[in-house]
Amino acid sequence: MGKFYITTPIYYVNDKPHIGHAYTTVVADVYARYQREILGADKVFFLTGTDEHGAKVAQAAEEAGKEPQVFVDEVSAKYEAVWEKLNISHDYFIRTTNPKHKAVVQDILQKLYDKDLIYKANYKGLYCVGCEKYLTPTEIEDGHCALHPNIELKEQEEENYFLKLKELAPKVLKALEAKKYQVLPKERYEEILSRIKAGVEDISISRTGVKWGVPIPWDKEHTVYVWVDALLNYYSATQIVDGKKDFWAPDLQLMAKDILWFHGLIWEAILIALDMELPRIIFAHGFFTIDGKKMSKSLGNIIDPIELADTYGVDGLRYLLLTAFAFGNDGDISMEKFDVKYNADLANGLGNLVSRVAKLAENFDLESLQKVDTKDLDEKFGKTLLIDGPKDALSVIWAEIKTLDKALDTDEPWKLEEDALNDVLKGYISKLKWVAKSLAPFMPETAKKIEKVFGGKQVVKPESLFRRR
Ligand code: MSP
Repeated sequence: MGKFYITTPIYYVNDKPHIGHAYTTVVADVYARYQREILGADKVFFLTGTDEHGAKVAQAAEEAGKEPQVFVDEVSAKYEAVWEKLNISHDYFIRTTNPKHKAVVQDILQKLYDKDLIYKANYKGLYCVGCEKYLTPTEIEDGHCALHPNIELKEQEEENYFLKLKELAPKVLKALEAKKYQVLPKERYEEILSRIKAGVEDISISRTGVKWGVPIPWDKEHTVYVWVDALLNYYSATQIVDGKKDFWAPDLQLMAKDILWFHGLIWEAILIALDMELPRIIFAHGFFTIDGKKMSKSLGNIIDPIELADTYGVDGLRYLLLTAFAFGNDGDISMEKFDVKYNADLANGLGNLVSRVAKLAENFDLESLQKVDTKDLDEKFGKTLLIDGPKDALSVIWAEIKTLDKALDTDEPWKLEEDALNDVLKGYISKLKWVAKSLAPFMPETAKKIEKVFGGKQVVKPESLFRRR
């Protein structure tokens, strides 16, 4: 694999970013940074952005009393600002209101139409604006969408254009079973497999009632269904950004399981219909709650990533999010747990270790350090990151940190003569340098700070890495 193209979902701009969005984006950032080290920066393309059309966004703009374009410009800018603050290293930020993206969407729709994969028909169904889709009976609980119980469902009847998904589904199934693309983790693969096998209906891919969207090229009364418009961002970005055409297809597409159906079936159906190469991996991680409850406006428990970054520092926030629950599984986040973990792992753990070793090594000649072969450890670490995810990879680093901490207590190096002290310090410092290098994709600023302490001729007194809370 000579290149690495990684994507996050493009987030709806009906509201500002919260830590759910931050979670996926930070994970993607870790993989992008890691692959840049392995493959070289120019071999990685990391894409994120905003999903700006559709009924939900139009409604939010109206509620804010703003023209949709003005509104989406503002909210999209908030996303960009948050990603900048969180040190997200995306190579491009795509917006679906970008005219170049819209042109690609129209081009693809026209191609599907010309291939006779789109037809017009009447459609009647219950639409959930929260999901931006018509619901199937199994998705409705007590007359409401199971995921958005506070939103009134709308009975809609429209003339729509439909994609022949039923006809395409067997081809998708074949590709999935033949591993032409992979859906991970295993439970998600099984979920999508059984849903496809249970039967797939054609989907409507245009709206007449939603004006805020990309016009259907052959019938301007209709706009493109927001999900089709959005999915195509992953392709349009490679066409919009100079020199990225060869990055097609995506190597890793990250999201949570809430949007697996679109990414595990509809997306591939469109690509197969156009004889396009498929993404390699669709990874749908778990969904997390806050203190056991779904994050929602009405519960007032939506957490702003900026506030968390102000509390724990950017790297503190990145660490706490990445280690909050097992990658892939559902989980729960609580501020109490964050506080405990922050103090234990960061302030009293890594931060304290660095300052203890730096203090002992005040007179140490760093040039006497020989290069240590860390190939085995690097391999183990890389495998853990790629197979088990960021949380487990961080555990590998923290196992080293804990071993070093214990060794300091048992060795009591401060009691040693200079030569013996220097010998032990060589071991400690080499390990800390490995920690810094391995930590770089997860906590870039902390890694830099540790490298600064041990990277020159003489140890540089460290600034406090994490203030105790
Ligand atoms: N706009 C669509 C995606 C289009 S992609 C072609 C969308 N946007 S969204 O703003 O609702 O973002 C959903 C994504 O945000 C999830 O798939 C996940 O990546 C992230 N998360 C939002 N809340 C989350 C949690 N509570 N837990 C984990 N991930 C969360 O859907």
